[in-house]
Formats: sequence, structure tokens, C-alpha cells
Amino acid sequence: MAEIVFEHVTKEFNGQIVLDDVSFRIEKGEFVFIIGKSGAGKSTLLNMITRQLTPTEGEVFVFGAPLNTMKEKELPYYRRRIGVMSQDMGMLEGMTVYENIALALQAVERAGRGMKRRIMETMGLVGIVEKAHAYPRELSGGEQARMLLARAMAVDPDILIADEPTANLDPDTAWDMMLLLSEIHRSGKTLIISSHARELVTVMRKRVITLVAGALVDDEKNAVYNHKAVDIFEERRVLEERNKKLLK
Ligand SMILES: Nc1ncnc2c1ncn2[C@@H]1O[C@H](COP(=O)(O)OP(=O)(O)O)[C@@H](O)[C@H]1O
Ligand SMILES: [Mg+2]
Repeated sequence: MAEIVFEHVTKEFNGQIVLDDVSFRIEKGEFVFIIGKSGAGKSTLLNMITRQLTPTEGEVFVFGAPLNTMKEKELPYYRRRIGVMSQDMGMLEGMTVYENIALALQAVERAGRGMKRRIMETMGLVGIVEKAHAYPRELSGGEQARMLLARAMAVDPDILIADEPTANLDPDTAWDMMLLLSEIHRSGKTLIISSHARELVTVMRKRVITLVAGALVDDEKNAVYNHKAVDIFEERRVLEERNKKLLK
């Protein structure tokens, strides 16, 4: 079985369809972009992999296990195999870089023996060792992003999810971040990045899954940025098809 499997996943919030019958598989070690404009459902999809959200219909399997029926007490063990880099999970301003990373390990019950070494290694991996005792507000945008990445990587996950990792970065810093993510992928992780950075997606030539209004409209290997992601006619087509289905 593939490492991540979405089978006919639909998600509704208050009756509004946010993901519509989405199916795909991601093999261990793949590098996948999820693209789509703001509101297309990228974060919702990623939050299902971590089981922050569950589908309204359909099923998600990760590491061969169905997530719908996973028990609460299994979640910390499950989640320590998945690192998430997201601006939504901001860092705590009152804590240093080191403490922020430590907190991430505690959240999945990975604190304790070897923790200090693990944190130092991870800060080395992303190049922020000298910022260990700095507070988030003392970091540049690029350093803050690397700290978010360090937090995701501290658990040494099998899957790394990066939800718009370059969103607030200038082009040079965004490119550095993409290279860093790419290096991490080469070390043997499955990497899933949501993005609307067109040039970056195109340069990387990886698998690209395109979401339009919650529908998966394309899934291509070695792909460039797919302009359906921002095509209003494509969006209109998706919404009309959905309405037809709903009226039936
Ligand atoms: N917790 C929620 N409650 C209600 N609506 C939500 C919630 N989370 C997301 N949505 C809605 O779902 C849609 C998709 O959101 P999201 O997955 O965040 O898109 P993206 O990450 O592609 O910008 C948006 O219309 C958003 O307003
Ligand atoms: Mg989002």
C-alpha cells in the first residue's frame, strides 16, 4: 500500500463543500506539490493527513492505517512520524528558538533522553544553531521559517508536510528554503508542499496535484506549475459540475 492514500475524500464545513471526492496516493519518498489558489482546500487536505481534521465522507490511510478509526491514545505515536511546517502553528514569542523546538518534541511525547542532542542536530540541519537562544522577534523572516522547519524536523519524521513554506519570504530566501526542503527530501523523507509560488514549482519539476475549489483537477509527474489552479473558467466548470451533481 502507498504511504498516503486518499479515497473519495469529501470535507464539508457547515454544509459548504471544501474538498470534493478527492482521491490520490503518495508513495514513500515522493516529493509532491499541492497547488491551488487561496481557499482551494490545500490546508484542509494537509490537516487530514495529521488527523487534525477527519473527512465528512471517504477515507484516509497513512502508513497502512485508516485514520478515521484511529484512537486518541494512538495519535501522539502516529504524529511523531509526521513533521508539519505551517505558519498557522506560529512560534511562541516568549520562548527561545531552542525552547520552541523542545516544546514540539514534548507535544508528541518525545522529550527526555537525547532531546538536547536532537534539538542541536536539527538546528544544525536548517542552519540556525547560532540562534538557539534568540527569541522569534529577533529573527529575520528566513530564520523564522527555518525555525518552523526545525520544529517540524525535530521528531525525525517519515513524512514532512510544509504548508506554504515560502509564503512570507522574499524570492532569494524562498529559493533557499526550497533547496533546504529538497535536501531534506533527498535524505529519505516523503515531502508534501502546498504552494502558490509558480516559479518555484516549475523549476523543481516534481509531481503536482492541482486543486480548484476543492476538486482535484490534475495530478501530474515531473510537472510545471499548472495554470488551471488560477483559471476562473476552470473554477466555474468545477462549480457548475458540482451543482449539477447536487441537483440530481
Ligand atoms: N474550520 C473551518 N471552518 C469553516 N470553514 C473552513 C474551516 N477551515 C477552512 N474553511 C474553509 O474551507 C475552504 C478551504 O480552506 P483552506 O483549506 O484553508 O484553503 P487553502 O489552504 O487552499 O487556502 C475555505 O473556503 C475556508 O474558508
Ligand atoms: Mg492554506
